[in-house]
Amino acid sequence: MRLLVTGGAGFIGANFVYHILEKYPEYEIVNLDALTYAGNLENLKDIENNPNYEFVKGDICDKELMMDLVSKVDAVVHFAAESHVDRSILDSDSFVKTNVLGTLSLLEAAKNNGLKRFHHVSTDEVYGSLEKDDPAFNEKTPYDPRSPYSASKASSDHLVRAYYHTHDLPITISNCSNNYGPYQFPEKLIPLFVTNLIEGKKVPVYGTGENVRDWLHVKDHCEAIDRILHDGKIGETYCVGGNAEKTNMEITHEILKAMKAGEEMIEHIEDRKGHDKRYAIDFSKIKSELGWEPQVSFEDGIEETIEWYKNNEDWWKRIKSGEYQEYQKAK
Ligand code: NAD
Ligand code: DAU
Repeated sequence: MRLLVTGGAGFIGANFVYHILEKYPEYEIVNLDALTYAGNLENLKDIENNPNYEFVKGDICDKELMMDLVSKVDAVVHFAAESHVDRSILDSDSFVKTNVLGTLSLLEAAKNNGLKRFHHVSTDEVYGSLEKDDPAFNEKTPYDPRSPYSASKASSDHLVRAYYHTHDLPITISNCSNNYGPYQFPEKLIPLFVTNLIEGKKVPVYGTGENVRDWLHVKDHCEAIDRILHDGKIGETYCVGGNAEKTNMEITHEILKAMKAGEEMIEHIEDRKGHDKRYAIDFSKIKSELGWEPQVSFEDGIEETIEWYKNNEDWWKRIKSGEYQEYQKAK
């Protein structure tokens, strides 16, 4: 199988590239990434010379390039996106360009191109925000996005489904909860808090910290996408979750405890605008149809993740200082 992975220099995409090349050494991967601030070729150093791996720098909005790349592969796994909610609140333009128009350009390239599969990686945030006792999101939950990020991802999901219904494009979609693990850009909650504490800095909790997220180790997410890509039913959506709902304060206390830091390191700051209260995922469909369920408990996963950031200081310090961008300019 020859795969086009978009956004493979980002957090989940890079973990997915490693997952595939390790599990299916005969597969070929073309990684197309624009190398925005979130893309980092240092994430892929261990496989950059693998003969079955090729990196192409480019933008998913570039229709001609997408047409050329899609015509040479069997399947597309589409990760590329602007992914950070806070950035979408400050400036939504790039979110609409990449997440909506970029996805459209990829769909146009994929249309009538003999693809076996177009898998679109999406988020649980398209379903909106839950109250404490509401049932978890599932594949039938109506869309109710509330941030420019989630609105742009919801639009992309609708376009992907529209290309299935209108053009018979063989699509699948996954809507997943919050990921954590190696190579996550240190703007997101867990890597930001862990790296701040290593640097002796405080951790900025938005508002009261009572907001709830469901956490899934990135390895489990990659395995879920792998199952959907190979065995998922065309036209279907699968909700993917970690069975690990935590308030932000619970996460903060677990990180502080694991890193032997005190309460004085917590700084409550102004809340995120429109901050969604709670996300939760009912993953019974993927469990019953594809036999997938999370394998990494949050307790083990967070311990392993903290160790990873402790052992890879060079990686995240080069991001925080901006030096990582020099490495990719030279590539
Ligand atoms: P990320 O921000 O770490 O990586 C995104 C990658 O996309 C980067 O390498 C970036 O350079 C690339 N990119 C951005 N715009 C591009 C463009 N126009 N053309 C080509 N490449 C471009 O994101 P992530 O956290 O790895 O998320 C990957 C996907 O998974 C996204 O679609 C996101 O919506 C989805 N998702 C993320 C999470 C999570 O918790 N991180 C959970 C569920 C779903
Ligand atoms: O649910 C899936 C989504 O999870 C993905 O689609 C997004 O791409 C991904 O970024 C993530 O979105 P969140 O907004 O939930 O993740 P983030 O790490 O930014 O924030 C997690 C929670 O922590 C959220 O309630 C806001 C809070 N937070 C975040 C940061 C960065 C803080 O309290 N302080 C912070 O500094």
